[in-house]
Amino acid sequence: MSRPVPASLVRPDLRYMASFVEAMREGYSRDNLRPETADTIAAIAAEPEAFVRQQLNPPTTIVLPDGSLGDRVPESQLWCVDGDAFLGSVGVRHRLNPMLEAWGGHIGYAVRPSARGRGLASAMLAGGLDWARANLPLERVMLTVNENNPASIRVIEKNGGVLRDTVPHPWVPGDAGRRYWIALRDT
Ligand SMILES: CC(C)(COP(=O)(O)OP(=O)(O)OC[C@H]1O[C@@H](n2cnc3c(N)ncnc32)[C@H](O)[C@@H]1OP(=O)(O)O)[C@@H](O)C(=O)NCCC(=O)NCCS
Repeated sequence: MSRPVPASLVRPDLRYMASFVEAMREGYSRDNLRPETADTIAAIAAEPEAFVRQQLNPPTTIVLPDGSLGDRVPESQLWCVDGDAFLGSVGVRHRLNPMLEAWGGHIGYAVRPSARGRGLASAMLAGGLDWARANLPLERVMLTVNENNPASIRVIEKNGGVLRDTVPHPWVPGDAGRRYWIALRDT
């Protein structure tokens, strides 16, 4: 069992970029539907300042898993770090649009492979919920997860996720996906 790591959530910064690139080489991906490629990693490694700027000021469009272009809602990226080491990310979208309402929800997260299995995702989601509670006028947030991802289902349920429904996965033919709500405030 690895030593427990305190989950500090910080804004993306150049100081973590060497470790961020190492994490991608290890198998961390910014998008759990699309693995990083040697090309995407090399492009980020070549221009880490530009990447950090983009993380702090995301573009207003997004390339969807089918290659089409969609609207991107405002999103805040939080990185889980230990010293200069990047361990994982949690992204909080400030609102839903019709596409995210169907699939994607408000919050997504990923932990680099070497840091998995020690409670980081659970702590990162808790931190992301705290951030949303403090910074956004939302009563509740939606999260979506593939039925084949029991670790993430556990992370969501440990953080108060209430199952809304199960739907065909829009991007992975044949898979089912779960949609959850997590309340941010007492009603
Ligand atoms: C899913 C993911 C975020 C989990 O990160 P992690 O830091 O290892 O998660 P944690 O250690 O906080 O907790 C995982 C929980 O799931 C449990 N778990 C792990 N594998 C499991 C399995 N196969 N079946 C059931 N439960 C499982 C763990 O025991 C733990 O529960 P516990 O705290 O009650 O012991 C990580 O594997 C990841 O980044 N995957 C790729 C990206 C991704 O899937 N993101 C989520 C998209 S919705």
